[in-house]
Amino acid sequence: MAKMGTSSRVAAAIVVVLGFVLSLAVVCNGGKTSSFVRKVEKTVDMPLDSDVFKVPPGYNAPQQVHITQGDQLGKAVIVSWVTVEEPGSNTVLYWSAYSKKQKSEGKFTTYKFYNYTSGYIHHTTIRNLKFNTKYYYVVGIGHTERQFWFITPPKVGPDVPYTFGLIGDLGQSFDSNKTLTHYELNPQKGQAVLFVGDLSYADNYPNHDNVRWDTWGRFTERSVAYQPWIWTAGNHEIDFAPELGETKPFKPYTHRYHVPYKASGSTAPFWYSIKRASAYIIVLSSYSAYGKYTPQYKWLEQELPKVNRSETPWLIVLMHSPWYNSYNYHYMEGETMRVMYEPWFVKYKVDVVFAGHVHAYERSERISNVAYNIVNGICIPVKDQSAPVYITIGDGGNLEGLATNMTEPQPAYSAYREASFGHATFDIKNRTHAYYGWHRNQDGYAVTADSMWFFNRYYHPVDDSTSAQ
Ligand SMILES: *[C@@H]1O[C@H](CO)[C@@H](O)[C@H](O)[C@H]1NC(C)=O
Ligand SMILES: *[C@@H]1O[C@H](CO)[C@@H](O)[C@H](O)[C@H]1NC(C)=O
Ligand SMILES: *[C@@H]1O[C@H](CO)[C@@H](O)[C@H](O)[C@H]1NC(C)=O
Ligand SMILES: *[C@@H]1O[C@H](CO)[C@@H](O)[C@H](O)[C@H]1NC(C)=O
Ligand SMILES: *[C@@H]1O[C@H](CO)[C@@H](O)[C@H](O)[C@H]1NC(C)=O
Ligand SMILES: [Fe+2]
Repeated sequence: MAKMGTSSRVAAAIVVVLGFVLSLAVVCNGGKTSSFVRKVEKTVDMPLDSDVFKVPPGYNAPQQVHITQGDQLGKAVIVSWVTVEEPGSNTVLYWSAYSKKQKSEGKFTTYKFYNYTSGYIHHTTIRNLKFNTKYYYVVGIGHTERQFWFITPPKVGPDVPYTFGLIGDLGQSFDSNKTLTHYELNPQKGQAVLFVGDLSYADNYPNHDNVRWDTWGRFTERSVAYQPWIWTAGNHEIDFAPELGETKPFKPYTHRYHVPYKASGSTAPFWYSIKRASAYIIVLSSYSAYGKYTPQYKWLEQELPKVNRSETPWLIVLMHSPWYNSYNYHYMEGETMRVMYEPWFVKYKVDVVFAGHVHAYERSERISNVAYNIVNGICIPVKDQSAPVYITIGDGGNLEGLATNMTEPQPAYSAYREASFGHATFDIKNRTHAYYGWHRNQDGYAVTADSMWFFNRYYHPVDDSTSAQ
């Protein structure tokens, strides 16, 4: 062959350099950083006399009514409420169109926090419900009765459609109220909420003013009295305040919000699992020990092999602190837990991980970072079709405001990020497909600002990335 001319040698060099630059671009440049422009206003809490905090009228009227799943399969519901004047009845009266009125008895508890004394917090579990059935229920028997309703989930099975809402870091600001309103009016119609932690933000008040736990309970009642919210503990639930003599972590949270942790063999209410329709939902605690030999570690090690994808194709994990987060807030706070558990998530093909904590929105590619050990230096996340998508949805709207400062350039693993308040829905269609949509509060109720068709990792593990590459 003829010798390469100077010009063709230059051209070849350019191609090589260009190729290098392009491959660098693939490594360094991520997906989309939204250019959506909003008025950044201060996020302020709704005042105590706001309409959403109104105490229901009547002597000893139940307030802060909320429900959550009460067993592993969805045939039980925990009904909780607070009475103020006196304990009153622990009874829940309930019925459906097909059954006579029945009663279930529970218990009440109280707690003190510094100089705050709680009302009478009732928890009553209703069991042996029929699947896919609308039930009415009444609390406050003997004094002021209040009636609500809920619909039980369909029987657990692989092709059962079901729509989950996703809300995180809600708080009780005017923006929180917008997020909740958008969730309620979203035509996608979430049937249960997966809540990724940080509920009331009462701990931002002097002495962790627990009155703000009560206002949060009254604010959210309009949704959570009618559909279960599945709870995850966040850092604002810890309420560890030795300066106030309060040294028992999670005291207000555990008194107010019960979860069915024993049903999944857990020994503490901070990590547990439920099955609902076609989903298996594992809730983890970023603020409980998760190292080797700890109760949470041992539980999760035994838990993951129990997930039967023929029964529940969709494996969803909730936690508060995200593992993949490219904002300059809480940067790498989830890293130690990622190091412990990420290999399991890849091995067991978790479909999606939802977290909160960072007050913004971000969705990742399917990536993993499990090759690294202390000597090999292999520490860059790589595309991995066995890995979950990581979604940060800590954008509920609490008083701390938006996280707007992002690391630059956007890392390759980050598919979409935007500093706006909102919520999401995860709409399972069947064993292979689920439609995911994120809604920002500035848009119309039906608008999705970011969306993705999820392909199930067990039944349809083909690339579902939304990026062009
Ligand atoms: C608790 O103490 C604070 C000051 O330390 C005070 O402002 C507040 O009124 C007290 N609350 C109650 C319920 O006593
Ligand atoms: C909260 O939102 C509801 C529903 O949109 C509305 O009726 C209510 O007035 C709002 N309250 C506040 C304090 O913004
Ligand atoms: C998994 O679930 C399917 C469908 O319910 C059932 O037929 C099968 O026996 C289960 N497998 C195990 C190991 O329990
Ligand atoms: C964003 O965060 C980085 C890292 O903490 C900091 O150096 C930088 O000053 C911040 N930028 C703004 C505009 O706050
Ligand atoms: C599952 O749902 C998707 C999306 O709605 C649909 O395209 C697909 O045909 C469904 N699969 C089956 C087997 O029905
Ligand atoms: Fe948080």
